[in-house]
Amino acid sequence: MCGIVGYLGYRQAAEVCMEGLLRLEYRGYDSFGIATVSPEITLFKETGKISAAKDSIHLNGTCGIGHTRWATHGVPSKTNAHPFTDCTGKLAVVHNGIIENYAQLKRELEERGHTFVSETDTEVIPHLIEEQYAGNLCEAVAKILPLLEGAYAILVITEDTQEIVAARKGSPLVLGIGDNEYIFASDGLPILDYTRRVIYLEDGDLADVTPAGYTIYHGAEVVERKTAVLEWDAADIRKGGFAHYMLKEMYEQPEVFSNTASSIAENPSLLCRLRDARSITIVACGTSANAATVFAYLMETVCGIPTRVVLASEFKYYPTPKNDVVIAVSQSGETADTIAALKIAKEKGAKTFCLTNVLGSSLTRTAETTFYTRAGPEVSVAATKSFTAQVAAFMEMVNIISGGKLTEDIAEIQRYLPEVLEYDVDAAVELVKDAATLLYVGRGLSYPIALEGALKMKEISYIHAEGYAAGELKHGPFALLSESTPVVAVCLSGITYPVMMSNLKEMKARCAPEIVLGNAGDLDAEEIADVFIPLPKVSEIAGSILASVVLQMLAYKTAVSLGTDVDMPRNLAKSVTVE
Ligand code: AGP
Repeated sequence: MCGIVGYLGYRQAAEVCMEGLLRLEYRGYDSFGIATVSPEITLFKETGKISAAKDSIHLNGTCGIGHTRWATHGVPSKTNAHPFTDCTGKLAVVHNGIIENYAQLKRELEERGHTFVSETDTEVIPHLIEEQYAGNLCEAVAKILPLLEGAYAILVITEDTQEIVAARKGSPLVLGIGDNEYIFASDGLPILDYTRRVIYLEDGDLADVTPAGYTIYHGAEVVERKTAVLEWDAADIRKGGFAHYMLKEMYEQPEVFSNTASSIAENPSLLCRLRDARSITIVACGTSANAATVFAYLMETVCGIPTRVVLASEFKYYPTPKNDVVIAVSQSGETADTIAALKIAKEKGAKTFCLTNVLGSSLTRTAETTFYTRAGPEVSVAATKSFTAQVAAFMEMVNIISGGKLTEDIAEIQRYLPEVLEYDVDAAVELVKDAATLLYVGRGLSYPIALEGALKMKEISYIHAEGYAAGELKHGPFALLSESTPVVAVCLSGITYPVMMSNLKEMKARCAPEIVLGNAGDLDAEEIADVFIPLPKVSEIAGSILASVVLQMLAYKTAVSLGTDVDMPRNLAKSVTVE
Protein backbone atom coordinates (compact mmCIF):
# COMPACT_ATOMS: atom_id res chain seq x y z
CA MET A 1 0.00 0.00 0.00
CA CYS A 2 1.14 3.61 0.15
CA GLY A 3 4.77 4.16 0.99
CA ILE A 4 6.44 7.35 2.20
CA VAL A 5 10.00 8.61 2.23
CA GLY A 6 11.49 11.89 3.46
CA TYR A 7 15.06 13.14 3.36
CA LEU A 8 16.89 15.98 5.05
CA GLY A 9 20.66 16.23 4.75
CA TYR A 10 23.31 17.09 2.19
CA ARG A 11 22.33 14.88 -0.76
CA GLN A 12 19.80 15.68 -3.47
CA ALA A 13 16.55 14.86 -1.67
CA ALA A 14 14.66 13.96 -4.87
CA GLU A 15 17.22 11.28 -5.70
CA VAL A 16 17.11 9.79 -2.22
CA CYS A 17 13.31 9.89 -2.24
CA MET A 18 13.12 8.28 -5.67
CA GLU A 19 15.54 5.50 -4.71
CA GLY A 20 13.60 5.05 -1.49
CA LEU A 21 10.28 4.84 -3.31
CA LEU A 22 11.78 2.22 -5.61
CA ARG A 23 12.64 0.22 -2.48
CA LEU A 24 9.01 0.54 -1.38
CA GLU A 25 7.64 -0.39 -4.82
CA TYR A 26 6.98 -3.92 -3.59
CA ARG A 27 4.22 -2.58 -1.33
CA GLY A 28 2.13 -1.91 -4.44
CA TYR A 29 1.23 1.47 -5.96
CA ASP A 30 -0.40 3.07 -8.95
CA SER A 31 1.05 6.61 -8.88
CA PHE A 32 3.80 8.47 -7.08
CA GLY A 33 5.13 11.93 -6.33
CA ILE A 34 7.99 13.90 -4.79
CA ALA A 35 8.25 17.44 -3.40
CA THR A 36 11.43 19.29 -2.47
CA VAL A 37 12.27 22.65 -0.93
CA SER A 38 14.31 24.46 -3.56
CA PRO A 39 13.77 27.12 -2.10
CA GLU A 40 10.06 27.14 -2.96
CA ILE A 41 8.09 23.86 -2.88
CA THR A 42 8.52 22.06 -6.21
CA LEU A 43 6.46 19.01 -7.10
CA PHE A 44 6.66 16.07 -9.46
CA LYS A 45 3.77 13.60 -9.78
CA GLU A 46 3.16 10.76 -12.19
CA THR A 47 1.04 7.66 -12.65
CA GLY A 48 2.50 4.22 -13.36
CA LYS A 49 5.95 2.95 -12.61
CA ILE A 50 8.70 5.11 -11.11
CA SER A 51 11.32 3.57 -13.41
CA ALA A 52 9.45 4.86 -16.47
CA ALA A 53 9.52 8.46 -15.20
CA LYS A 54 12.92 8.42 -13.50
CA ASP A 55 14.69 10.60 -16.07
CA SER A 56 11.98 13.28 -16.00
CA ILE A 57 12.40 14.10 -12.31
CA HIS A 58 14.48 17.28 -12.02
CA LEU A 59 13.93 18.62 -8.52
CA ASN A 60 16.64 20.35 -6.53
CA GLY A 61 17.08 20.72 -2.80
CA THR A 62 18.35 18.72 0.13
CA CYS A 63 15.01 18.51 1.93
CA GLY A 64 12.16 16.56 0.36
CA ILE A 65 9.37 14.04 0.71
CA GLY A 66 8.04 11.32 -1.59
CA HIS A 67 5.09 8.97 -1.79
CA THR A 68 3.82 5.92 -3.64
CA ARG A 69 0.02 5.84 -3.73
CA TRP A 70 -2.24 2.78 -3.75
CA ALA A 71 -5.61 4.31 -4.58
CA THR A 72 -8.29 4.27 -1.90
CA HIS A 73 -10.09 7.64 -2.26
CA GLY A 74 -10.20 8.56 -5.95
CA VAL A 75 -8.85 6.92 -9.07
CA PRO A 76 -5.12 6.57 -9.74
CA SER A 77 -4.22 9.87 -11.46
CA LYS A 78 -1.64 12.64 -11.30
CA THR A 79 -4.19 14.86 -9.58
CA ASN A 80 -4.81 12.34 -6.83
CA ALA A 81 -1.10 11.56 -6.36
CA HIS A 82 0.72 12.92 -3.30
CA PRO A 83 2.33 15.23 -2.18
CA PHE A 84 -0.49 17.73 -1.64
CA THR A 85 -0.08 21.42 -0.96
CA ASP A 86 -2.22 24.02 0.78
CA CYS A 87 -3.80 27.01 -1.00
CA THR A 88 -0.57 29.00 -0.83
CA GLY A 89 1.63 26.19 -2.15
CA LYS A 90 4.03 26.80 0.73
CA LEU A 91 3.41 23.47 2.47
CA ALA A 92 3.54 19.93 1.14
CA VAL A 93 2.29 16.75 2.76
CA VAL A 94 2.52 13.01 2.09
CA HIS A 95 0.30 10.61 3.97
CA ASN A 96 -0.04 6.88 4.45
CA GLY A 97 -3.31 5.67 6.00
CA ILE A 98 -6.91 6.83 5.83
CA ILE A 99 -8.46 9.96 7.33
CA GLU A 100 -11.91 8.64 8.15
CA ASN A 101 -13.54 12.01 8.86
CA TYR A 102 -12.08 13.76 5.82
CA ALA A 103 -15.47 14.43 4.19
CA GLN A 104 -16.65 16.49 7.16
CA LEU A 105 -13.28 18.27 7.45
CA LYS A 106 -13.30 19.02 3.73
CA ARG A 107 -16.81 20.51 3.87
CA GLU A 108 -15.79 22.77 6.77
CA LEU A 109 -12.57 23.83 5.03
CA GLU A 110 -14.48 24.62 1.82
CA GLU A 111 -16.90 26.74 3.82
CA ARG A 112 -13.90 28.66 5.10
CA GLY A 113 -12.71 29.29 1.53
CA HIS A 114 -10.23 26.47 0.85
CA THR A 115 -10.23 24.93 -2.61
CA PHE A 116 -9.40 21.31 -3.30
CA VAL A 117 -7.98 19.73 -6.41
CA SER A 118 -8.19 16.01 -5.64
CA GLU A 119 -10.68 13.38 -4.50
CA THR A 120 -8.36 12.19 -1.73
CA ASP A 121 -8.80 12.18 2.02
CA THR A 122 -5.21 13.39 2.43
CA GLU A 123 -5.70 16.83 0.91
CA VAL A 124 -7.47 18.11 4.02
CA ILE A 125 -4.18 17.86 5.95
CA PRO A 126 -2.17 20.66 4.26
CA HIS A 127 -5.24 22.92 4.37
CA LEU A 128 -5.71 22.31 8.09
CA ILE A 129 -2.02 23.00 8.73
CA GLU A 130 -2.22 26.16 6.62
CA GLU A 131 -4.86 27.54 9.00
CA GLN A 132 -2.59 27.01 11.99
CA TYR A 133 0.76 27.86 10.46
CA ALA A 134 2.33 31.06 11.72
CA GLY A 135 6.01 30.30 11.17
CA ASN A 136 6.34 27.24 13.41
CA LEU A 137 5.61 24.10 11.40
CA CYS A 138 5.87 21.66 14.28
CA GLU A 139 3.38 23.62 16.38
CA ALA A 140 0.95 23.88 13.47
CA VAL A 141 1.06 20.13 12.81
CA ALA A 142 0.62 19.37 16.52
CA LYS A 143 -2.52 21.53 16.59
CA ILE A 144 -4.27 19.74 13.73
CA LEU A 145 -3.50 16.13 14.68
CA PRO A 146 -6.37 15.88 17.21
CA LEU A 147 -8.77 16.74 14.36
CA LEU A 148 -7.78 13.69 12.32
CA GLU A 149 -9.71 10.45 12.84
CA GLY A 150 -8.26 7.28 11.37
CA ALA A 151 -4.75 6.14 10.67
CA TYR A 152 -1.82 8.14 9.44
CA ALA A 153 1.88 8.45 8.96
CA ILE A 154 2.50 11.93 7.59
CA LEU A 155 5.48 13.99 6.54
CA VAL A 156 5.22 17.76 6.13
CA ILE A 157 7.63 20.30 4.64
CA THR A 158 7.42 24.05 4.15
CA GLU A 159 9.38 26.40 1.94
CA ASP A 160 10.24 28.55 4.99
CA THR A 161 12.64 26.10 6.67
CA GLN A 162 14.84 23.09 6.07
CA GLU A 163 12.69 20.86 8.21
CA ILE A 164 10.51 17.75 8.09
CA VAL A 165 7.72 17.30 10.61
CA ALA A 166 6.43 13.74 10.91
CA ALA A 167 3.53 12.20 12.80
CA ARG A 168 2.41 8.65 13.29
CA LYS A 169 -0.84 7.05 14.40
CA GLY A 170 -1.60 3.54 13.24
CA SER A 171 0.62 3.57 10.14
CA PRO A 172 4.29 2.64 10.26
CA LEU A 173 7.03 5.26 10.21
CA VAL A 174 10.75 4.78 10.74
CA LEU A 175 13.37 7.52 11.17
CA GLY A 176 16.89 6.69 9.98
CA ILE A 177 19.65 8.64 11.69
CA GLY A 178 22.77 9.04 9.56
CA ASP A 179 25.75 11.38 9.77
CA ASN A 180 24.26 14.82 9.20
CA GLU A 181 21.31 13.31 7.38
CA TYR A 182 17.91 11.88 8.26
CA ILE A 183 15.64 9.60 6.29
CA PHE A 184 12.02 8.85 7.10
CA ALA A 185 10.39 5.82 5.53
CA SER A 186 7.46 3.45 5.88
CA ASP A 187 9.91 0.64 6.60
CA GLY A 188 13.64 0.11 6.94
CA LEU A 189 14.39 -0.79 3.32
CA PRO A 190 14.86 2.76 1.91
CA ILE A 191 17.09 3.59 4.87
CA LEU A 192 19.59 0.74 4.56
CA ASP A 193 21.80 2.46 1.97
CA TYR A 194 22.43 5.43 4.30
CA THR A 195 22.40 4.17 7.86
CA ARG A 196 21.41 1.22 10.02
CA ARG A 197 20.50 3.36 13.06
CA VAL A 198 16.76 3.82 13.24
CA ILE A 199 13.96 4.87 15.52
CA TYR A 200 10.57 3.21 15.14
CA LEU A 201 8.14 6.01 15.93
CA GLU A 202 5.31 5.11 18.29
CA ASP A 203 1.63 5.87 17.79
CA GLY A 204 1.04 9.46 18.89
CA ASP A 205 4.65 10.55 18.23
CA LEU A 206 5.45 13.80 16.46
CA ALA A 207 9.01 14.18 15.17
CA ASP A 208 10.64 17.46 14.19
CA VAL A 209 13.81 17.08 12.14
CA THR A 210 16.05 20.01 11.19
CA PRO A 211 19.74 20.21 10.19
CA ALA A 212 20.44 20.77 13.90
CA GLY A 213 18.98 17.42 14.98
CA TYR A 214 15.72 15.76 15.82
CA THR A 215 13.18 16.05 18.63
CA ILE A 216 10.36 13.61 19.29
CA TYR A 217 7.23 14.74 21.11
CA HIS A 218 4.47 12.62 22.56
CA GLY A 219 1.64 14.95 23.49
CA ALA A 220 3.24 17.91 25.25
CA GLU A 221 6.28 15.88 26.36
CA VAL A 222 9.64 15.56 24.66
CA VAL A 223 10.43 11.85 24.64
CA GLU A 224 13.53 9.75 24.06
CA ARG A 225 12.97 6.81 21.79
CA LYS A 226 15.43 3.91 21.71
CA THR A 227 17.48 3.56 18.54
CA ALA A 228 17.50 0.13 16.94
CA VAL A 229 19.85 -1.36 14.40
CA LEU A 230 18.50 -2.59 11.09
CA GLU A 231 19.55 -6.21 10.73
CA TRP A 232 18.91 -6.70 7.04
CA ASP A 233 21.59 -6.18 4.40
CA ALA A 234 21.24 -3.88 1.39
CA ALA A 235 22.24 -6.93 -0.71
CA ASP A 236 19.15 -8.78 0.54
CA ILE A 237 16.89 -6.38 -1.29
CA ARG A 238 18.48 -6.82 -4.71
CA LYS A 239 17.43 -9.47 -7.20
CA GLY A 240 20.92 -10.99 -7.26
CA GLY A 241 20.74 -12.28 -10.84
CA PHE A 242 17.24 -13.78 -10.54
CA ALA A 243 14.55 -12.76 -13.03
CA HIS A 244 12.14 -11.88 -10.21
CA TYR A 245 12.23 -11.30 -6.47
CA MET A 246 9.73 -14.12 -6.10
CA LEU A 247 12.12 -16.63 -7.66
CA LYS A 248 15.03 -15.37 -5.56
CA GLU A 249 12.94 -15.59 -2.42
CA MET A 250 11.80 -19.11 -3.25
CA TYR A 251 15.42 -20.17 -3.60
CA GLU A 252 16.20 -18.73 -0.17
CA GLN A 253 13.77 -21.15 1.46
CA PRO A 254 16.19 -23.91 2.48
CA GLU A 255 18.27 -21.40 4.45
CA VAL A 256 15.25 -19.56 5.81
CA PHE A 257 13.61 -22.78 7.01
CA SER A 258 16.72 -23.84 8.92
CA ASN A 259 17.46 -20.37 10.34
CA THR A 260 13.93 -19.93 11.62
CA ALA A 261 13.54 -23.45 13.01
CA SER A 262 16.80 -23.19 14.91
CA SER A 263 15.87 -19.83 16.47
CA ILE A 264 12.63 -20.94 18.12
CA ALA A 265 14.19 -22.53 21.20
CA GLU A 266 15.47 -19.02 22.10
CA ASN A 267 12.09 -18.16 23.61
CA PRO A 268 11.38 -20.83 26.22
CA SER A 269 8.82 -18.74 28.12
CA LEU A 270 6.48 -18.58 25.12
CA LEU A 271 6.85 -22.28 24.55
CA CYS A 272 5.89 -22.94 28.18
CA ARG A 273 2.88 -20.67 27.82
CA LEU A 274 1.76 -22.52 24.70
CA ARG A 275 2.28 -25.91 26.32
CA ASP A 276 0.06 -24.86 29.22
CA ALA A 277 -2.63 -23.24 27.06
CA ARG A 278 -6.17 -24.56 27.38
CA SER A 279 -6.83 -23.34 23.86
CA ILE A 280 -5.04 -21.27 21.24
CA THR A 281 -6.51 -18.89 18.67
CA ILE A 282 -4.49 -17.65 15.74
CA VAL A 283 -5.41 -14.53 13.82
CA ALA A 284 -3.92 -13.88 10.41
CA CYS A 285 -4.72 -13.08 6.78
CA GLY A 286 -3.91 -14.65 3.43
CA THR A 287 -0.78 -16.75 3.33
CA SER A 288 -0.13 -16.18 7.03
CA ALA A 289 -3.56 -17.67 7.77
CA ASN A 290 -2.66 -20.71 5.66
CA ALA A 291 0.58 -21.17 7.63
CA ALA A 292 -1.48 -20.78 10.81
CA THR A 293 -3.77 -23.58 9.63
CA VAL A 294 -0.72 -25.82 9.30
CA PHE A 295 0.08 -24.96 12.92
CA ALA A 296 -3.47 -25.62 14.10
CA TYR A 297 -3.45 -29.04 12.47
CA LEU A 298 -0.11 -29.98 14.04
CA MET A 299 -0.91 -28.52 17.45
CA GLU A 300 -4.16 -30.48 17.64
CA THR A 301 -2.92 -33.74 16.17
CA VAL A 302 0.56 -33.86 17.70
CA CYS A 303 0.11 -31.98 21.00
CA GLY A 304 -3.63 -32.36 21.58
CA ILE A 305 -4.09 -28.63 22.29
CA PRO A 306 -7.30 -27.18 20.81
CA THR A 307 -6.19 -24.60 18.25
CA ARG A 308 -8.32 -22.60 15.86
CA VAL A 309 -7.54 -20.11 13.12
CA VAL A 310 -9.79 -17.08 12.77
CA LEU A 311 -9.29 -14.80 9.79
CA ALA A 312 -8.14 -11.55 11.36
CA SER A 313 -10.82 -9.51 9.58
CA GLU A 314 -13.53 -11.72 11.12
CA PHE A 315 -12.10 -11.92 14.63
CA LYS A 316 -14.12 -9.01 16.02
CA TYR A 317 -17.33 -10.94 15.34
CA TYR A 318 -16.20 -13.95 17.41
CA PRO A 319 -16.06 -14.39 21.17
CA THR A 320 -12.58 -14.79 22.65
CA PRO A 321 -12.44 -17.63 25.17
CA LYS A 322 -11.30 -16.51 28.62
CA ASN A 323 -7.57 -16.97 29.22
CA ASP A 324 -7.15 -17.90 25.58
CA VAL A 325 -3.72 -17.54 24.03
CA VAL A 326 -3.99 -15.46 20.86
CA ILE A 327 -1.17 -15.49 18.33
CA ALA A 328 -1.15 -12.98 15.48
CA VAL A 329 0.82 -14.10 12.44
CA SER A 330 1.99 -11.59 9.86
CA GLN A 331 5.00 -11.36 7.60
CA SER A 332 4.90 -7.58 7.49
CA GLY A 333 3.65 -6.97 11.01
CA GLU A 334 1.66 -4.09 9.48
CA THR A 335 -1.53 -5.79 8.31
CA ALA A 336 -4.33 -3.62 9.67
CA ASP A 337 -6.82 -6.47 10.15
CA THR A 338 -4.31 -8.53 12.10
CA ILE A 339 -3.25 -5.63 14.32
CA ALA A 340 -6.90 -4.76 15.02
CA ALA A 341 -7.67 -8.39 15.93
CA LEU A 342 -4.74 -8.62 18.32
CA LYS A 343 -5.77 -5.36 20.00
CA ILE A 344 -9.27 -6.74 20.58
CA ALA A 345 -7.82 -9.96 22.00
CA LYS A 346 -5.66 -7.93 24.37
CA GLU A 347 -8.59 -5.82 25.51
CA LYS A 348 -10.51 -9.02 26.26
CA GLY A 349 -7.70 -10.23 28.49
CA ALA A 350 -6.11 -12.82 26.22
CA LYS A 351 -2.41 -13.54 26.45
CA THR A 352 -1.09 -12.13 23.16
CA PHE A 353 1.83 -13.19 21.01
CA CYS A 354 2.91 -12.43 17.51
CA LEU A 355 4.99 -14.13 14.87
CA THR A 356 6.34 -11.65 12.36
CA ASN A 357 9.23 -11.14 10.00
CA VAL A 358 9.78 -7.41 10.50
CA LEU A 359 11.69 -6.05 13.46
CA GLY A 360 9.91 -3.20 15.21
CA SER A 361 6.75 -3.55 13.11
CA SER A 362 3.44 -2.31 14.53
CA LEU A 363 2.31 -5.78 15.57
CA THR A 364 5.31 -6.16 17.85
CA ARG A 365 4.11 -3.10 19.82
CA THR A 366 0.72 -4.66 20.38
CA ALA A 367 1.75 -8.20 21.30
CA GLU A 368 3.07 -8.95 24.74
CA THR A 369 5.69 -11.29 23.30
CA THR A 370 7.15 -11.46 19.82
CA PHE A 371 8.68 -14.31 17.88
CA TYR A 372 10.56 -13.43 14.70
CA THR A 373 10.79 -15.49 11.57
CA ARG A 374 14.26 -15.29 10.04
CA ALA A 375 13.22 -14.91 6.43
CA GLY A 376 14.97 -11.61 5.65
CA PRO A 377 13.20 -8.96 3.57
CA GLU A 378 10.46 -10.31 1.32
CA VAL A 379 9.93 -7.96 -1.60
CA SER A 380 7.67 -9.93 -3.93
CA VAL A 381 4.00 -9.36 -3.15
CA ALA A 382 3.47 -13.12 -3.28
CA ALA A 383 4.60 -14.51 0.05
CA THR A 384 6.83 -17.56 -0.39
CA LYS A 385 9.79 -17.71 1.95
CA SER A 386 7.81 -16.03 4.72
CA PHE A 387 5.24 -18.86 4.52
CA THR A 388 8.02 -21.43 4.77
CA ALA A 389 9.58 -19.53 7.66
CA GLN A 390 6.25 -19.38 9.50
CA VAL A 391 5.81 -23.11 8.94
CA ALA A 392 9.35 -23.72 10.23
CA ALA A 393 8.64 -21.67 13.36
CA PHE A 394 5.37 -23.47 14.01
CA MET A 395 6.79 -26.92 13.36
CA GLU A 396 9.65 -26.30 15.73
CA MET A 397 7.24 -25.01 18.40
CA VAL A 398 5.17 -28.19 18.08
CA ASN A 399 8.34 -30.26 18.05
CA ILE A 400 9.63 -28.76 21.29
CA ILE A 401 6.25 -28.88 23.02
CA SER A 402 5.73 -32.51 21.98
CA GLY A 403 9.16 -33.59 23.15
CA GLY A 404 10.63 -34.07 19.66
CA LYS A 405 7.79 -35.72 17.73
CA LEU A 406 8.49 -33.71 14.56
CA THR A 407 12.28 -34.00 14.58
CA GLU A 408 12.32 -36.44 11.64
CA ASP A 409 9.82 -34.45 9.61
CA ILE A 410 11.80 -31.25 10.08
CA ALA A 411 15.01 -33.01 9.05
CA GLU A 412 13.35 -34.42 5.92
CA ILE A 413 12.10 -30.99 4.89
CA GLN A 414 15.57 -29.52 5.39
CA ARG A 415 17.12 -32.32 3.39
CA TYR A 416 14.79 -32.17 0.38
CA LEU A 417 13.93 -28.47 0.05
CA PRO A 418 16.86 -27.72 -2.31
CA GLU A 419 15.87 -30.70 -4.47
CA VAL A 420 12.17 -29.86 -4.90
CA LEU A 421 13.07 -26.34 -5.99
CA GLU A 422 14.63 -27.91 -9.09
CA TYR A 423 11.57 -29.95 -10.08
CA ASP A 424 10.38 -29.67 -13.64
CA VAL A 425 6.81 -28.36 -13.58
CA ASP A 426 6.61 -27.40 -17.26
CA ALA A 427 4.08 -30.10 -18.18
CA ALA A 428 1.84 -28.91 -15.33
CA VAL A 429 2.18 -25.30 -16.51
CA GLU A 430 1.02 -26.36 -19.99
CA LEU A 431 -2.02 -28.01 -18.47
CA VAL A 432 -3.14 -25.04 -16.35
CA LYS A 433 -2.08 -21.90 -18.18
CA ASP A 434 -5.12 -21.60 -20.46
CA ALA A 435 -7.68 -22.73 -17.90
CA ALA A 436 -10.34 -20.37 -16.60
CA THR A 437 -10.66 -22.17 -13.26
CA LEU A 438 -8.42 -24.49 -11.26
CA LEU A 439 -9.31 -26.53 -8.22
CA TYR A 440 -6.62 -27.37 -5.64
CA VAL A 441 -7.37 -30.21 -3.26
CA GLY A 442 -5.81 -31.94 -0.30
CA ARG A 443 -6.75 -33.56 3.00
CA GLY A 444 -5.34 -33.19 6.48
CA LEU A 445 -2.15 -31.15 6.40
CA SER A 446 -2.34 -31.00 2.60
CA TYR A 447 -5.59 -29.02 2.84
CA PRO A 448 -3.95 -25.72 3.91
CA ILE A 449 -1.25 -26.49 1.34
CA ALA A 450 -3.97 -26.67 -1.33
CA LEU A 451 -5.38 -23.34 -0.09
CA GLU A 452 -1.95 -21.75 -0.28
CA GLY A 453 -1.23 -23.22 -3.72
CA ALA A 454 -4.48 -21.80 -5.07
CA LEU A 455 -3.85 -18.38 -3.46
CA LYS A 456 -0.40 -18.22 -5.05
CA MET A 457 -1.75 -19.17 -8.46
CA LYS A 458 -4.60 -16.66 -8.48
CA GLU A 459 -2.62 -13.71 -7.18
CA ILE A 460 0.21 -13.83 -9.71
CA SER A 461 -1.28 -15.59 -12.77
CA TYR A 462 -4.81 -14.10 -12.46
CA ILE A 463 -6.27 -17.57 -13.15
CA HIS A 464 -9.23 -18.26 -10.89
CA ALA A 465 -8.08 -20.97 -8.48
CA GLU A 466 -9.76 -22.30 -5.34
CA GLY A 467 -8.43 -24.57 -2.65
CA TYR A 468 -10.73 -27.20 -1.14
CA ALA A 469 -10.59 -30.00 1.35
CA ALA A 470 -10.86 -32.87 -1.13
CA GLY A 471 -13.91 -34.28 0.67
CA GLU A 472 -15.82 -31.05 0.12
CA LEU A 473 -15.81 -31.21 -3.66
CA LYS A 474 -18.86 -33.47 -3.77
CA HIS A 475 -20.81 -30.88 -1.79
CA GLY A 476 -20.93 -28.34 -4.61
CA PRO A 477 -17.69 -27.71 -6.48
CA PHE A 478 -18.15 -30.99 -8.39
CA ALA A 479 -20.56 -29.04 -10.58
CA LEU A 480 -17.54 -27.18 -11.97
CA LEU A 481 -15.67 -30.27 -13.08
CA SER A 482 -15.17 -30.85 -16.80
CA GLU A 483 -12.35 -31.51 -19.21
CA SER A 484 -11.49 -27.81 -19.02
CA THR A 485 -11.26 -27.60 -15.21
CA PRO A 486 -7.86 -28.96 -14.16
CA VAL A 487 -7.46 -30.22 -10.60
CA VAL A 488 -4.20 -29.95 -8.67
CA ALA A 489 -4.12 -32.62 -5.96
CA VAL A 490 -1.70 -33.33 -3.15
CA CYS A 491 -1.98 -37.09 -2.62
CA LEU A 492 0.72 -38.48 -0.34
CA SER A 493 1.25 -41.84 1.35
CA GLY A 494 -0.20 -41.75 4.84
CA ILE A 495 -3.56 -41.51 6.55
CA THR A 496 -5.18 -39.41 3.84
CA TYR A 497 -4.01 -41.58 0.94
CA PRO A 498 -6.80 -44.14 0.43
CA VAL A 499 -9.61 -41.57 0.38
CA MET A 500 -7.58 -39.14 -1.72
CA MET A 501 -7.18 -41.89 -4.32
CA SER A 502 -10.95 -42.40 -4.35
CA ASN A 503 -11.43 -38.67 -4.78
CA LEU A 504 -8.98 -38.64 -7.69
CA LYS A 505 -10.99 -41.39 -9.38
CA GLU A 506 -14.27 -39.54 -8.83
CA MET A 507 -12.84 -36.39 -10.37
CA LYS A 508 -11.36 -38.34 -13.26
CA ALA A 509 -14.81 -39.81 -13.90
CA ARG A 510 -15.96 -36.20 -14.43
CA CYS A 511 -13.20 -35.76 -17.05
CA ALA A 512 -11.12 -33.30 -14.98
CA PRO A 513 -7.45 -33.26 -16.02
CA GLU A 514 -5.35 -34.04 -12.95
CA ILE A 515 -1.98 -32.82 -11.75
CA VAL A 516 -1.02 -35.04 -8.85
CA LEU A 517 1.76 -34.33 -6.36
CA GLY A 518 2.44 -37.80 -4.97
CA ASN A 519 5.30 -39.88 -3.65
CA ALA A 520 7.89 -41.13 -6.10
CA GLY A 521 7.15 -44.76 -6.95
CA ASP A 522 3.41 -44.52 -6.26
CA LEU A 523 2.25 -46.23 -9.45
CA ASP A 524 -1.49 -45.90 -8.69
CA ALA A 525 -1.31 -42.13 -8.34
CA GLU A 526 1.02 -41.87 -11.32
CA GLU A 527 -1.35 -43.91 -13.46
CA ILE A 528 -4.40 -41.79 -12.79
CA ALA A 529 -2.57 -38.46 -13.15
CA ASP A 530 -2.35 -36.53 -16.39
CA VAL A 531 0.77 -34.95 -14.94
CA PHE A 532 2.46 -36.66 -12.01
CA ILE A 533 4.97 -34.75 -9.88
CA PRO A 534 6.94 -37.22 -7.76
CA LEU A 535 7.89 -35.93 -4.32
CA PRO A 536 10.51 -37.74 -2.25
CA LYS A 537 9.39 -40.69 -0.14
CA VAL A 538 9.10 -38.81 3.13
CA SER A 539 6.50 -38.56 5.90
CA GLU A 540 3.09 -37.15 4.98
CA ILE A 541 3.85 -34.06 7.05
CA ALA A 542 7.19 -33.40 5.37
CA GLY A 543 5.74 -34.21 1.95
CA SER A 544 2.93 -31.66 2.37
CA ILE A 545 5.37 -28.88 3.17
CA LEU A 546 7.62 -29.85 0.27
CA ALA A 547 4.52 -29.85 -1.97
CA SER A 548 3.88 -26.19 -1.05
CA VAL A 549 7.20 -25.24 -2.65
CA VAL A 550 6.36 -27.13 -5.85
CA LEU A 551 3.02 -25.30 -5.96
CA GLN A 552 4.84 -21.97 -5.60
CA MET A 553 6.96 -22.92 -8.60
CA LEU A 554 3.90 -23.95 -10.57
CA ALA A 555 2.29 -20.55 -9.89
CA TYR A 556 5.52 -18.72 -10.68
CA LYS A 557 6.18 -20.47 -13.99
CA THR A 558 2.54 -20.15 -15.04
CA ALA A 559 2.62 -16.42 -14.33
CA VAL A 560 5.88 -16.03 -16.27
CA SER A 561 4.43 -17.91 -19.23
CA LEU A 562 1.37 -15.61 -19.16
CA GLY A 563 3.53 -12.49 -18.94
CA THR A 564 2.01 -11.03 -15.78
CA ASP A 565 3.82 -8.67 -13.43
CA VAL A 566 5.00 -11.45 -11.11
CA ASP A 567 6.48 -9.36 -8.29
CA MET A 568 3.81 -6.67 -8.30
CA PRO A 569 0.54 -8.26 -9.38
CA ARG A 570 -2.31 -5.95 -10.31
CA ASN A 571 -4.49 -4.47 -7.56
CA LEU A 572 -2.43 -6.03 -4.77
CA ALA A 573 -0.21 -4.56 -2.09
CA LYS A 574 2.45 -6.20 0.02
CA SER A 575 1.40 -4.58 3.28
CA VAL A 576 -2.35 -4.23 3.56
CA THR A 577 -2.54 -1.35 5.99
CA VAL A 578 -6.28 -0.67 5.73
CA GLU A 579 -9.06 -2.80 7.20
C1 AGP B 1 0.37 -13.64 0.04
O1 AGP B 1 0.98 -14.08 -1.11
C2 AGP B 1 -0.40 -12.44 -0.06
N1 AGP B 1 0.30 -11.40 -0.72
C3 AGP B 1 -1.23 -12.04 1.14
O2 AGP B 1 -2.24 -12.99 1.26
C4 AGP B 1 -0.55 -11.85 2.51
O3 AGP B 1 -0.12 -13.07 2.99
C5 AGP B 1 -1.55 -11.18 3.48
O4 AGP B 1 -1.87 -9.91 2.99
C6 AGP B 1 -1.04 -11.09 4.88
O5 AGP B 1 0.13 -10.34 4.96
P1 AGP B 1 1.02 -10.36 6.28
O6 AGP B 1 1.56 -11.74 6.43
O7 AGP B 1 2.09 -9.35 6.04
O8 AGP B 1 0.12 -10.00 7.41
